[in-house]
Amino acid sequence: MTQIIDGKKISAEIKDELKEQVAAYREQGIEICLAVIQVGDDPASSVYVRNKKKACEYIGIKSLSYELPARTTEEELLSLVEQLNGRADVNGILVQLPLPEQIDEEKVLNAISPLKDVDGFHPMNVGALCIGKKGFVSCTPAGVIQLLKRSGISISGRECVVVGRSNIVGKPMALLLLRENGTVTVAHSRTEDLKAVTRRADILVVAVGRPQMITEEYVKEGAVVIDVGIHRDENNKLCGDVEYARVAPHCSAITPVPGGVGPMTIAMLMKNCVESVEIQKASFVERAE
Ligand code: GUN
Repeated sequence: MTQIIDGKKISAEIKDELKEQVAAYREQGIEICLAVIQVGDDPASSVYVRNKKKACEYIGIKSLSYELPARTTEEELLSLVEQLNGRADVNGILVQLPLPEQIDEEKVLNAISPLKDVDGFHPMNVGALCIGKKGFVSCTPAGVIQLLKRSGISISGRECVVVGRSNIVGKPMALLLLRENGTVTVAHSRTEDLKAVTRRADILVVAVGRPQMITEEYVKEGAVVIDVGIHRDENNKLCGDVEYARVAPHCSAITPVPGGVGPMTIAMLMKNCVESVEIQKASFVERAE
């Protein structure tokens, strides 16, 4: 029987745990606050931002909302980020991507204080992950690790193949699996004989951004398959990078789309917001010493 990994249930569990932690902080007089910045009115971004604010409300995190017009200049956005970096009452800063073309995304992400970078996109946090130091970890790959652990799937010593090498998912995913003592291979669009590589995987994480590209020919019998993709198929139905109906019967466990990895991203963002309190405290102690 294939185990269907329920991201909705696991993300709800995590949010409930965080809600308790936030309540405990509040008893100590600590309030957690996330600033969310959206530039323009891209409909997909508006949905993501709304869901992030809703999750904050559920958990008890205060959210500050900045909805800036699409014509906002890079200078104006950088100035807002600077102002939020300097505010002691703001723990996390999130700039929703994509940004309009007049704004250099990398410049803005690098301007966010690494101590408030709850998306885990700042080079300091990526570097910290790379050398095994504490820091914020990109939410989607961190969510995949939680899905595996909370489903009783062990990573240590197993063959893990990540398909995709983006800075937001593929690369941090490979580093996290390595941190869990997996034997990790990163495959990508230039990989020769991709099927031969993916068929080695005990744990296959797919983040290629191509609808239903992964069929059963790419999967070893009994593998665990994690699908990070989300698309609309020709009937406007949500689907992933994996052709679920054909692949699932061959897996020991698989994530569905929707309801697999998707709900985990926001749960992990919330987790980063809660962890920001300790990260900021530790950094204050370090600077004071
Ligand atoms: N746009 C799509 N996904 C994300 C995300 O995880 N973080 C940010 N900041 N923007 C996004």
